[in-house]
Amino acid sequence: MLIRTGRDGFQHPIASEITPRAVYEQRRSLLKLMAGGAAGGALAAWVGREALAQAVQRPNKLAALPGAKSGVAGAATMEKVTDYKDATTYNNFYEFGTDKDDPAKNAHTLKTRPWTVEVDGLVKKPAKYTLEDLVKLSAQEERIYRLRCVEGWSMVIPWVGYSMSKLIEKVEPLGSAKYVEFITLADKATMPYVGSRVLEWPYVEGLRLDEAMNPLTLLTFGMYGEVLPNQNGAPVRLVVPWKYGFKSGKSLVKIRFTDKEPRISWNKSAPQEYGFYSNVNPNVDHPRWSQATERRIGEDGLFAKKRKTLMFNGYEPQVGQLYAGMDLKKFY
Ligand code: MTE
Repeated sequence: MLIRTGRDGFQHPIASEITPRAVYEQRRSLLKLMAGGAAGGALAAWVGREALAQAVQRPNKLAALPGAKSGVAGAATMEKVTDYKDATTYNNFYEFGTDKDDPAKNAHTLKTRPWTVEVDGLVKKPAKYTLEDLVKLSAQEERIYRLRCVEGWSMVIPWVGYSMSKLIEKVEPLGSAKYVEFITLADKATMPYVGSRVLEWPYVEGLRLDEAMNPLTLLTFGMYGEVLPNQNGAPVRLVVPWKYGFKSGKSLVKIRFTDKEPRISWNKSAPQEYGFYSNVNPNVDHPRWSQATERRIGEDGLFAKKRKTLMFNGYEPQVGQLYAGMDLKKFY
């Protein structure tokens, strides 16, 4: 087992516990004042996140992974890694709220032990794994992947885990298995927004079996050499680096092999905007905005230049062949 949790477990402090109330309230009124114009809104968001980043501390400095760089092609990048504070305070995890700073503020209620992941459906060897068994199933390694969100921002994160294919090989899919469905935790008691009408719960994602088998698809237990913080999908999530970030389901509890394309949460909520494939593609716009450029979180001062979005998020050499001959405007 390569990732060690702190002796007392991984407790996340709530922002309001650490930020003195007066400072917090002062900040709220400042933000309200600034939230007027577009530039004001951007500045307000930036000020808010800086303050939250200072408030949310790394409670347990955990042991780094010993010598675990990946040998998988495409798993390293020369780009600057996003600051930990940005990657852990600017999140999407709708079970904990819809604002970017909600997961960092609210996800301390998520209970990550004991945890099991059930693997079933069209496989020879269905199994229920404890988190501890799942972690031990294969050697873990660090992969520095870009995460490009459908909303137009991106980050570069050193994830820790192993190829999803290791688990798939273990359970032996039947010949009829064509897709993999990823079902995440929906627990009203610990996730305040489960039950809200923003999405259908549980949050469900899916991949074609060959996509799930691609070595880039990572079953992820950690980041920055440490266990995943709750807001990033503890204790186990998916990372699919050539697809928009929403494909990377957090806090997985079930993995099911099927012969039919799974109905995924975002497609159910807005089918004209979010397709099953959701490959990063600068040539296919979202109906409401362009996907040609992106804002790198951490470089997002008011005057920072946007970056060009790359086909398949820059992983075309590794995954392009999965879509040979497909019309990617149709299968978006
Ligand atoms: N998984 C669950 N269970 N719930 C969510 O709301 N949001 C997705 C994805 N996984 C989401 C989820 C979206 S929209 C993105 S962009 C990524 O998580 C964000 O991952 P990050 O917060 O670690 O950057």
